[in-house]
Amino acid sequence: PARPRVFSGIQPTADSFHLGNYLGAVRHWVALQDTHDAFYCVVDLHAITAGHDPALLRQRTRVAAAQLFAVGLDPERSTLFVQSQVPEHPQLAWVLGCITGFGEASRMTQFKDKSQKQGNERASVGLFTYPILQAADILLYQANAVPVGEDQRQHLELSRDLAQRFNSLFGATFTVPAPHIVKDTAKITDLQDPTAKMSKSSSSPAGIIDLLDDPARSAKKIRSAVTDTGREIVFDAETKPGVSNLLTIHSALSGRSIDELVAAYAGRGYGDLKKELAEVVADFVRPIQERTRGYLDDPAQLDKLLAAGAEKARAVAATTLRSTYERVGF
Ligand code: ADP
Ligand code: NA
Repeated sequence: PARPRVFSGIQPTADSFHLGNYLGAVRHWVALQDTHDAFYCVVDLHAITAGHDPALLRQRTRVAAAQLFAVGLDPERSTLFVQSQVPEHPQLAWVLGCITGFGEASRMTQFKDKSQKQGNERASVGLFTYPILQAADILLYQANAVPVGEDQRQHLELSRDLAQRFNSLFGATFTVPAPHIVKDTAKITDLQDPTAKMSKSSSSPAGIIDLLDDPARSAKKIRSAVTDTGREIVFDAETKPGVSNLLTIHSALSGRSIDELVAAYAGRGYGDLKKELAEVVADFVRPIQERTRGYLDDPAQLDKLLAAGAEKARAVAATTLRSTYERVGF
C-alpha cells in the first residue's frame, strides 16, 4: 500500500536554523521519511509578508535548503523544494481565498499577534492571507498528515475546513489533512530566558544556538546560559527551567535519557554540565556544518537538486490544480 503523505514547510527567515527548529521540527521531518511519502518546502513566499531584503532572502533560501539536505533529508526518498518555484501554490491560494470568510480569516490569532507587533495599520494583506496560502501548500499535495506544534493548530484547522468546504461545494477534490502529533517533541527554551522558547526573534542572540554557529561561539553561549539557584542537576521544568533545558538539549543530541544524565551528573556542578554539553553540541553540528558548506560550495549541484524537487512537486501540484480549476468552472 502507498505510504501516507506528509507535508511540512519552513520559512527561510534566518541565517541558520536554531536548535529549537531542529529538535522541535526538522529532526522529525528526517524521521518521517521512513514511514511517509514526504513533501517538504522552504516557504519563501511566506517569508515576504513582513518586509524583507531580496538578496538576503535568496541567500537564506539556499542556506535553508542546504541545511535540510545536510541534516538528512534525502532527495531520493523525499521531495524537498522551494515554494516560489511551484506557481500552483499562489494559484490555488486564490481559489481558496474566495471560499474563505473575511471573519473566519480575521479570527486567526497569529495574524492578530503579528499585526499588533507591526502596528495594525501597517500589517500587509499578505500577512492576513498567509494561512490561506498555507492551506494551499498542504492541499495541493493531498497530504494526509501535517506535523504541527501548538502554534500552528489553528492554521491546520482552517486548512481542514477549506478542504471540506471546497469538497462539498464543488465535489471531492482534496484530502482532508490530519495533524501529525509527534510525541516527546522537545521544547527548547532560550538560554538567556529559560521560560521563553528559543526563537529567531529572541531579544538576545546569546539565547539561541544556531546549527551553523561556530562551536567556540556556542560553547560561550552555553557557558553563560542562565541557570537556576541551587546546585543540583535535576530535571524540573517548573523550578529549574534553565538546567532542565540544558539537559533536554543534551539528551536529544547525545541520545542518552534524561534519567541517565541526571544519574551521571549526581554530585557534580553546572559547570561540568555546560562544558560537556558544549562538546556534545560541537560534535553534533560539525558534520552538519561540513555538509551544509559542501552544498553551498557547489551552487550548480544545489540548483539541480532543488530543480528536481520542484519538478517532482509540480507533477503533483499541477494535477491537483487542474482538477480544482475544472470543478470551479475554469
Ligand atoms: P522561530 O520560533 O525561531 O520563529 P519558527 O516559528 O519559524 O521559529 O518555527 C519553525 C519550526 O520550528 C516550527 O515547527 C516550530 O514549532 C519549531 N520550533 C521553533 N522554535 C522552537 C523551540 N524553541 N522548541 C521547539 N520547536 C521549535
Ligand atoms: Na516564530
